[in-house]
Amino acid sequence: MRITLLGTAAGGGFPQWNCNCRQCAGVRSGTLRAKSRTQSSIFVQPEGSTDGLLINASPDILQQIRATPALQPARTVRDTAIAAVLLMDGQVDHATGLFMLRERGSKLPLWCTDPVAEDLTQGNPVLRVLEHYCGVERHSIPLDGRAFTISDVPGLRLQAMPLKSKAAPYSPHREAPVAGDNIGLTILDTATGRRAFYAPGLGEIDPAVFDAMGRSDAVLVDGTFWTDDEMIGLGLSRKTAHDIGHLAQSGAGGMIECLSRLPAATRRVLVHINNTNPILDEDSEQRMQLRSAGIEVGEDGMLLEL
Ligand code: MLT
Ligand code: MN
Ligand code: ZN
Repeated sequence: MRITLLGTAAGGGFPQWNCNCRQCAGVRSGTLRAKSRTQSSIFVQPEGSTDGLLINASPDILQQIRATPALQPARTVRDTAIAAVLLMDGQVDHATGLFMLRERGSKLPLWCTDPVAEDLTQGNPVLRVLEHYCGVERHSIPLDGRAFTISDVPGLRLQAMPLKSKAAPYSPHREAPVAGDNIGLTILDTATGRRAFYAPGLGEIDPAVFDAMGRSDAVLVDGTFWTDDEMIGLGLSRKTAHDIGHLAQSGAGGMIECLSRLPAATRRVLVHINNTNPILDEDSEQRMQLRSAGIEVGEDGMLLEL
């Protein structure tokens, strides 16, 4: 399969529109060695297929489509390679790009969990609004570990697991999480037997999550923050990474430590990176630490051929 990282920033993107922190200012002015990034999503094409699955519809989707010729194969007067969309959660950075796909000629096949569908019908009624345009053909993602297939994207077998993370602020269960607010996803290409694990919002790695990571050829996981108190230290928020459902990379029990326990051949890629994270600075000490740990920092346009 072929996985294109369309957007590798967390909510807000990099640089964030209203931010003048060292990194946002530096990438804007070109004084920092860093690449700008759009908000979090990937595109997965099964082996030999032009059509693929868009995982997360980022508010930056139009920019991502323009930057990625594979998404517009131009086979007919109106065309797209996006055959279906799957959402990892109902947050703004992952779901509001659905508005931008409204010109579709038929209902959009949309896979998400029931709690996410509820949040996108009530707290942030994107799906109700879309009914006035193309409409969606909603499919429920099973949370009991059952594998499922998507008829519009043959060649993939998927498996979701509920994650400990956070629902969107407009969700009635923001502070009382329910299974399915956020998921991790194992993506298997049935032709090649290759597997990827994707979890852009991952607050805690329990044994089931670690097991799914360990069975995958590549893991694309939460790279939001370097330290748990990153936003507090910069005076930008009162919340820790943990408070908003993300596991920081550094420190005991952090993402680096966890990734170091995976089989040696596993490709490890961080995605959903917040603009405050020092790993965005390609000359930073933290970036060097990742390099020596064999961890890649995802960037927009990066292709993983598995
Ligand atoms: C998150 O995952 O916590 C989000 O990126 C928040 C947001 O989109 O504002
Ligand atoms: Mn997010
Ligand atoms: Zn910033």
